[in-house]
Amino acid sequence: MLVTTATTTTTTITNIGELVTNDPAPDREGGKLGIIRDAAVLVEDGRVVWVGRAGDAESPTSAGPGHAALMEVGNSTQHDLVDAGGLAVIPGFVDSHAHLVFGGDRAVEFEARMAGRRYEAGGIRSTVAATRAASDDELRMRLAGFIAEMRAQGITTVEIKSGYGLSVADEERAVRLAREVTEEVTFLGAHVVPAEFADDRVAYVDLVVGDMLTACAPHSRWIDVFCETGAFTIAESRRVLEAGIAAGLLPRVHASQLGEGDGVRLAVELGAASVDHCTYLTDDDIAALAGSGAAGTGTVATLLPGVEFSTRQPYPDARRLLDAGVTVALASDCNPGSSYTSSLPFCIAVAVRDMGMTPGEALWAATAGGAAALRRDDVGVIRPGARADFVQLSAPSHVHLAYRPGVPQIAAVWKDGVRAR
Ligand code: NIG
Ligand code: FE
Repeated sequence: MLVTTATTTTTTITNIGELVTNDPAPDREGGKLGIIRDAAVLVEDGRVVWVGRAGDAESPTSAGPGHAALMEVGNSTQHDLVDAGGLAVIPGFVDSHAHLVFGGDRAVEFEARMAGRRYEAGGIRSTVAATRAASDDELRMRLAGFIAEMRAQGITTVEIKSGYGLSVADEERAVRLAREVTEEVTFLGAHVVPAEFADDRVAYVDLVVGDMLTACAPHSRWIDVFCETGAFTIAESRRVLEAGIAAGLLPRVHASQLGEGDGVRLAVELGAASVDHCTYLTDDDIAALAGSGAAGTGTVATLLPGVEFSTRQPYPDARRLLDAGVTVALASDCNPGSSYTSSLPFCIAVAVRDMGMTPGEALWAATAGGAAALRRDDVGVIRPGARADFVQLSAPSHVHLAYRPGVPQIAAVWKDGVRAR
């Protein structure tokens, strides 16, 4: 490798058989996917600067087989030329829901569930004990491991929630460590009432909206609450979300995972970017979501198929949501209790097989849908100005993500224009 005083890095990815842009145009295919065939993408300093047909791309000119790095020494410009070999390139996955700051695991609980036991929110407390017992360095190393695992599987943006500390110091530590690896940090002090407050839940909610929020808000972008039987009531959830909003955080909600409730409508009423789980929805819930506004301003329904897979619950009905005009996202919900997967291709395959989504709808939901759930317009899309976050598949089409379940198909990953795998 040559050494240069390069100040500008440009990358051209060419010979892309199928480029999914999520930026529709009349001359592109696949509706919302905005597919370009025989495409190229130009990247400069971490941002997309040009997208189009490879034949229309300017310099650098043609790519040979394989990957070649061209460097202009002394010219302060480095050109990387990548030949995608006629395979598919898609936007990096945007995982808008994950709980990655925790100690221990719950394999024993999973095993018992697969032998017939029910999933209950109370299991969260065992992870709280393991998380409190872990050192900062242990949690940091776990987190780094999950980020590497996710990156290798094509996730280039991830939201990370607290929620396994449930004391002022332990929640502050969780959001602070999460902030070291992502901008999308969510304060979830209202995950469950911890054991030491079992007899005084009012005092716990007071703490969440008081000292805990004060300690966590500076590290966080989002406020979340688990609005569910066994976790927080609708009145408690409203209190938590309104306090978070008053502290400058943006709301998102866990609701309707284990049964119908009022959480979805509360989320819409408060202008939440997303309401997550949505497994048990009433017609009124669907109408509220559909009426909440377009992607980017309304409330996204984020579906988490890993949860239903790992808890043997019925899958949410994505088709019903899509047919009503609701914006749908897919996320991993990676956590040790209800969904210990960090694989969005897995979630896509399940959503296509069992939730009524087409392969294209599922891919959009795991990229642009996740971006909408995070109110981001710079990720989940490949267009000039967007972050250069891409995945090259070892397959000719995005359809193969669902068509070949369980098969590793992530050939290369770029994050901010830098090859991350
Ligand atoms: O999103 N539903 C609430 N929280 C997590 C589960 C956490 C756990 O069981 O540890 C979820 O599924
Ligand atoms: Fe969750």
